[in-house]
Amino acid sequence: MLLPAITSAPFSFSSLRLTNPISPHPRYVAVSISAQASPANSSYSVSDRDLESRGFVLHRTVSDLNLDHLNSVFAAVGFPKRDPDKIRVALENTDALLWIQYGKTQRPVAFARATGDGVFNAIIWDVVVDPSFQGLGLGKAVIERIIEDLLRKGISNIALYSEPRVLGFYRPLGFVADPDGIRGMVYSRKKKKN
Ligand SMILES: CC(C)(COP(=O)(O)OP(=O)(O)OC[C@H]1O[C@@H](n2cnc3c(N)ncnc32)[C@H](O)[C@@H]1OP(=O)(O)O)[C@@H](O)C(=O)NCCC(=O)NCCS
Repeated sequence: MLLPAITSAPFSFSSLRLTNPISPHPRYVAVSISAQASPANSSYSVSDRDLESRGFVLHRTVSDLNLDHLNSVFAAVGFPKRDPDKIRVALENTDALLWIQYGKTQRPVAFARATGDGVFNAIIWDVVVDPSFQGLGLGKAVIERIIEDLLRKGISNIALYSEPRVLGFYRPLGFVADPDGIRGMVYSRKKKKN
């Protein structure tokens, strides 16, 4: 999922705010990126045109997104399967999202979304690539674009939670764990003893 991180210039960490995680999990490491907004930078590792030529279609809205199919991708990577009605509400309350559809099957194969206050802060959630399509650059393509979309809106404090095994995926994309020693914390309700 998501987290905050720090990097060297032009990035500098300013603050971290965790908001309403759908499924907080202690395995996740919080990382964030805080950038001086530089919306002009749109040098993606793979261009929209290249993606298209490989049969992938980029989407930035939920229209045409089949939530059952999205849920199947979540399930395929081991995310808990969630109630599609709740996913719909979560997506309605999402500030930015990006998903990639494979033209041949019309199914979503990569997805990420960000929630936030629309001005200062955003947290990226539900980063996922269908296992059959992993290793093709789609995860990177999605994250690069969602960051760019947020920066264009002037939102420069971008965080996410990462499973430890995925830290190496996020680092080259500008995310840093424990920026300036700041640690993300997640509320974890203790079970009552009977
Ligand atoms: C993590 C995930 C989104 C990566 O997507 P992907 O499409 O397979 O990754 P990409 O092909 O875009 O890889 C981009 C780069 O990251 C590297 N990379 C990918 N996964 C990595 C990992 N787990 N650790 C370290 N590096 C990784 C790739 O080698 C590639 O490097 P390169 O640019 O030098 O060639 C995908 O594997 C996935 O959905 N995993 C299961 C769900 C999950 O863990 N989501 C994140 C929850 S925090």
